[in-house]
Amino acid sequence: MQMPNLLEAKKRTKIEPKTIDYNLKEEYKSLGKNKTYYIKTYGCQMNEHDTENIKAILEQMSFKETDIMENADLILLNTCAIRENAHNKVFGMVGRIKHLKESRPNIIVGMCGCMVQEEVIAEEIKNKYKWLDIVFGTHNINELPQILAKNSKNKSLELEVYSIEGDIIENMPAKRDSKYKAWVNIMYGCDKFCTYCIVPYTRGKQRSRTKENIINEVKELIKDGYKEVTLLGQNVNAYGKDLDVNYDMSDLLEETAQTGIERVRFITSHPWDFTDKMIKVIAKYPNVMPYIHLPLQSGSNKILKLMGRRYTKEEYITLYNKIKEIIPNCAITTDIIVGFPGETEEDFKDTLDVVNTCKYDSAFTFIFSPREGTPAAKMKDETSLEIKEQRLYKLNDLINSYARKANEKYQDQIVPVLLENTSEKNEEMLMGYTDTMKLVNVKASKELIGKIVDVKITNVKTWSMDGEIIN
Ligand code: 5AD
Ligand code: SF4
Repeated sequence: MQMPNLLEAKKRTKIEPKTIDYNLKEEYKSLGKNKTYYIKTYGCQMNEHDTENIKAILEQMSFKETDIMENADLILLNTCAIRENAHNKVFGMVGRIKHLKESRPNIIVGMCGCMVQEEVIAEEIKNKYKWLDIVFGTHNINELPQILAKNSKNKSLELEVYSIEGDIIENMPAKRDSKYKAWVNIMYGCDKFCTYCIVPYTRGKQRSRTKENIINEVKELIKDGYKEVTLLGQNVNAYGKDLDVNYDMSDLLEETAQTGIERVRFITSHPWDFTDKMIKVIAKYPNVMPYIHLPLQSGSNKILKLMGRRYTKEEYITLYNKIKEIIPNCAITTDIIVGFPGETEEDFKDTLDVVNTCKYDSAFTFIFSPREGTPAAKMKDETSLEIKEQRLYKLNDLINSYARKANEKYQDQIVPVLLENTSEKNEEMLMGYTDTMKLVNVKASKELIGKIVDVKITNVKTWSMDGEIIN
């Protein structure tokens, strides 16, 4: 049993991460024969992509996917730790699964992802959820076959969660959700240590993949018919800073664009590392999409400092203006936290001011959630939940009004849309995203799925638009 440890997780040493090649041993290839698996994924795109890797590993072991949890022989919850409510959701689900396990004791139930990297959670599992079969963390997805094999032999809880800084695992297979859009990890972990954030503890030290491995993956995806890649990392602008090379995110973005893939996106950016060179590359290559997610978190300099964000409101706005000047059609979205410890009405007003200046295309907004072990969890917080909720509603109203206005500019415009699938609400319609990441529904035949088409926007709403194909 290997338990996570917060002090270990906080450490950053000069030790270079090892690159390990994933390879499934022959002896594990039939472990899942005649068995099905079901995975529920919580949280961010990083987790979604991890799930794609887990699915492919399980399928190499002969497991087959099922959409019905109640029928599965293996149930896995890939968890998120970013806010407290994720905890309640996950353990609510674990309770439901316990009933299933009582009626079908042979099913294997597991937890993985960011939450189990938390020391308190691993303790909770060890003490209160001993009936679980397997628990593994974000650093050892590649060990899933061994962990399953051990559990099948010992019939007891296999808990293997490391807090070492983590390795880079190459050649992990992926069962991708889409045939046209793919996530490509460019780095793992984060070294920014924003004071509210648990990610640097759960995902470990920043480890960039080599440019060769990334570009090769993109080239393979092109061969497989993919139209769009999203370069993925907690803080992609810091790409390469941990490698001994003179090559940064703007170089990687440029080289990815030069592969000829039809669309390139990247998430998430930290304003601190966003260079002029980056802006130039986005502007220069038509296949780099004019869409940037640029988390603000707060518009108050006092709160930004307490958050450890290392930029001021003024610096953020300067960056924003520079982007809009060089890439006028660029859509910009953001993340904002309200109710951070010490946030006064005045500080909150500063946040609203920045929103009024930046007029975001959309935003994810959150109430601050203290995460045990992070510095912000120990800060004095005197604002009531009621006031925090009021701030959130007020902020959301403002965000929604700008989202609607941003969409209104699209009325009667012709925009490129990558058609991905049938629309959830109407089987006759297809859905897809513009270059600027606007959701569009169009009446079109299913044969066009996977194609980038020109669409004239006929109707705009706050969160989506309708259009018709013009070519
Ligand atoms: N409380 C509330 N929101 C948080 N986020 C990260 N940590 C916390 C927290 N402790 C938000 C940030 C980040 C997004 C992914 O989640 O806005 O950008
Ligand atoms: Fe968390 Fe800050 Fe790293 Fe983003 S940049 S993952 S908010 S520590």
